[in-house]
Amino acid sequence: MTGFAISVVAITVAIGVVAIFGLTRLPTARLQLTAFALLAVLLPIWIVFFSGWAMFHMGDDVKILAVASGAASAAVVAALVIGTSIARRIERLRAASARLASGDLSARAPEDGPRELADLGRAFNEMAASIESLFDARRELVAAASHDLRTPIASITAMLEAIEDGLADGSEYIRPLQDQARRLGALVEDLFELARIDAGSLAHELYEISLEPLVESCVLGFEAEARARNVTLERRFEEARALCAPEQVERVLLNLLTNALRHTPADGTVAVVLGSERDEVRVSVEDTGEGISDETAHRMFDRFWRGDSARSADGRGAGLGLAIARGLVEAQGGRIWAEPRESGGARVSFTLPAAS
Ligand SMILES: Nc1ncnc2c1ncn2[C@@H]1O[C@H](COP(=O)(O)OP(=O)(O)O)[C@@H](O)[C@H]1O
Ligand SMILES: [Mg+2]
Repeated sequence: MTGFAISVVAITVAIGVVAIFGLTRLPTARLQLTAFALLAVLLPIWIVFFSGWAMFHMGDDVKILAVASGAASAAVVAALVIGTSIARRIERLRAASARLASGDLSARAPEDGPRELADLGRAFNEMAASIESLFDARRELVAAASHDLRTPIASITAMLEAIEDGLADGSEYIRPLQDQARRLGALVEDLFELARIDAGSLAHELYEISLEPLVESCVLGFEAEARARNVTLERRFEEARALCAPEQVERVLLNLLTNALRHTPADGTVAVVLGSERDEVRVSVEDTGEGISDETAHRMFDRFWRGDSARSADGRGAGLGLAIARGLVEAQGGRIWAEPRESGGARVSFTLPAAS
């Protein structure tokens, strides 16, 4: 008797395993579900019939058969309905990704239905939204870059034409032509630097150095300009050793000092503060200029973003300096941020990892 039961179990398991393997080969989820429903109903029925036949002859097999086929049909219909609804949602997701692939960045997938599919739809939509905003940013960048490139080119062309037409003497245009060419060169250089930051190919070696001499030499470079504009340059240095790429730190600091001096009126003060905290070193440049709003403090690190005053003053920076500074600082494992000062003016700070 036990031997018989064991063999029924073994045969059932064997049939089940073979059937499940067969199921996974079916081409669509709908078919797999339907076949699975059939299997789930037919396997128990097979046991009932087989044991009934083996143990005692059943008189009522027609009724059992009827109940069994009813149950099987219901299960198959349920599986078909569920399968169809899942398949339809997957189809909508597939259609959305096909639209996205063909360049329609506004394509979104449905986010309803069973949780797994809703999660999948949501993940797809997040991906699509971030691709869309990346493309928008790229487009704006190209537009801003071409605008800024066009201005000096137009001005160079106009001056050259004036010389060619004999409307102006060449020598009086040499300086402005040089200025515009220099501006063009600086812009291309900045764009190139940004591209390298984006590509993550800023390979620079990090050294453990004392920051004080480096910061001092940068500040010294601004002494003459500050004196000419009657701006006091203040230094508040503490001993600080950092692990950094000295040339890049210099570039960042020169940029912050240029900005601070540009925004500080006569009789103002620009202070450079160097200090160290536990595992990082901090450099701040404070000024007594017109200051910044909280919103500006965030936006000023965006590429090509310039404040109104900077925008109207033609010939000044392109709004790339702080974006590059951020890239350089972050590539060395530091942070950079700006904040308004309580006493007015702005403070822009960056950190670098302290030398061990
Ligand atoms: N110290 C500062 N005080 C006030 N505004 C500042 C200061 N530094 C930068 N900004 C604002 O941030 C903008 C972006 O600065 P930056 O990226 O260096 O570009 P750029 O110097 O070419 O204008 C500036 O146009 C200016 O409006
Ligand atoms: Mg600048």
